[in-house]
Amino acid sequence: MSNEDNEKVFFGSKEVSKKDKKLGVDNIFTKVNENYDLMNDLMSLGAHRLWKNHFVSTSNINENSVILDLAGGTGDISKIASKIISKQNVYLCDQNASMVESAKERALNEGFYNSMHFNVASAEELPFQDNFFDQVFISFGFRNFSDKPKALREIRRVIKSGGFLNILEFSKVQDQVFSKIYDFYSFNVIPKIGKIISNDSDSYKYLVESIRTHEDQENLRKMILDCGFDEANFENLFNGIVSIHKGKK
Ligand SMILES: C[S@@+](CC[C@H](N)C(=O)[O-])C[C@H]1O[C@@H](n2cnc3c(N)ncnc32)[C@H](O)[C@@H]1O
Repeated sequence: MSNEDNEKVFFGSKEVSKKDKKLGVDNIFTKVNENYDLMNDLMSLGAHRLWKNHFVSTSNINENSVILDLAGGTGDISKIASKIISKQNVYLCDQNASMVESAKERALNEGFYNSMHFNVASAEELPFQDNFFDQVFISFGFRNFSDKPKALREIRRVIKSGGFLNILEFSKVQDQVFSKIYDFYSFNVIPKIGKIISNDSDSYKYLVESIRTHEDQENLRKMILDCGFDEANFENLFNGIVSIHKGKK
């Protein structure tokens, strides 16, 4: 095991080994899987739908694009992208087998299964050949990765030269007053909604804490560049509650 593998990373507000974070994250998504879509709507008051539509529509994919929806969960990004991409060129990959099963079922029920390939695998070890994708999308998955730099290098490997990485993620709120209101909502209201809907406030406490310990906009931009991307920039949405980072290979 190398020194890098021994490095501690944040799992919520705790510092743990990368291996323990991977297991912890996987347990959480197995637990929240059943109510995941409902919880997203409740916690964001529906705003995640706007953010995700904006995320895909500003990416310049076209009917011939080959894309990876990494940490794809139940397939929100795949569903939006499959309306633009005409062939079976949408790949959903997630490390959690239950989330991938939910995505498959949903794709069948909601009519986008024929656009899809599904893989259960981690971002840190992708089962795809070099230079395969035009664009990679990660929506609300990146902060959960156990080894973010390793994942970024692996993602860069599978993107074609000239292609793009797109990350939609919770980020740092810019306005101080708004930030206090947002903190109150996050730490007091979200775990209570989790308790009522899933009898599980701990998983939602993790989700909130993991937002606070994730890199801010500028640090994530630097990390993308440090991992070999030629260009990186970001756009804030809703005063920085979320941001969209783009990296060009
Ligand atoms: C908050 S969900 C986001 C799902 C979906 N992209 C969305 O926007 O609704 C985070 C997902 O990241 C997945 N995940 C976490 N760490 C991962 C990793 N290292 N590699 C692949 N998937 C990962 C989880 O299993 C979970 O499905």
